[in-house]
Amino acid sequence: MNPPSSAPENIVLIGFMGCGKSTVGRELQHRLSYPLVDMDQVIEQRAGKPITALFAEEGEQAFRDMETDLLIELNDPAAPRRIISTGGGVVGRAKNRALLKQLGYVVWLHAPIAVILERTRHNRSRPLLHTEDPAARIQSLMAARQPLYQESAHLKLDAAGLRCEELATGILECARYFFNNRPC
Ligand code: S3P
Repeated sequence: MNPPSSAPENIVLIGFMGCGKSTVGRELQHRLSYPLVDMDQVIEQRAGKPITALFAEEGEQAFRDMETDLLIELNDPAAPRRIISTGGGVVGRAKNRALLKQLGYVVWLHAPIAVILERTRHNRSRPLLHTEDPAARIQSLMAARQPLYQESAHLKLDAAGLRCEELATGILECARYFFNNRPC
């Protein structure tokens, strides 16, 4: 993108579980050759256990604290160009929402509930969906989070209507425009 500047130029992907943040993150990494930080993976490495075990043994708040600590670390002027793929609940804390905006260009990948349900149905790695009625849980979490994603994002994209390559192209063009026109 641009020659190095002091303002961070990370691309940050937010959105509900199953919306494709990790896949799009890998595509962006491939195109830009920026390092990819998958926040869930980093937290699992640090905790030394999968997220399901972390939730079960230490509670959701312990996970959320690790999420906030990692966002603080990622706001690092020495490493201002990364692709950052977040967990779906990262927007829950006001502090996190402020940190996301400081990181760079924030993209909300949005998908309808039916698509989320289908994509998450066979995956047991998401403790918040270990419930009798995952559809109802998705619906209530989505309702609570939509305004928070909206508040946090510079760009909202329909992640179900476009292929991963198309999403990456759209994100790169919009991010370039954003970084070029951002007030100093
Ligand atoms: C969560 C989403 C998960 C993971 C954790 C909590 C959430 O990440 O961070 O299970 O609160 O929505 P993905 O969005 O990558 O599935």
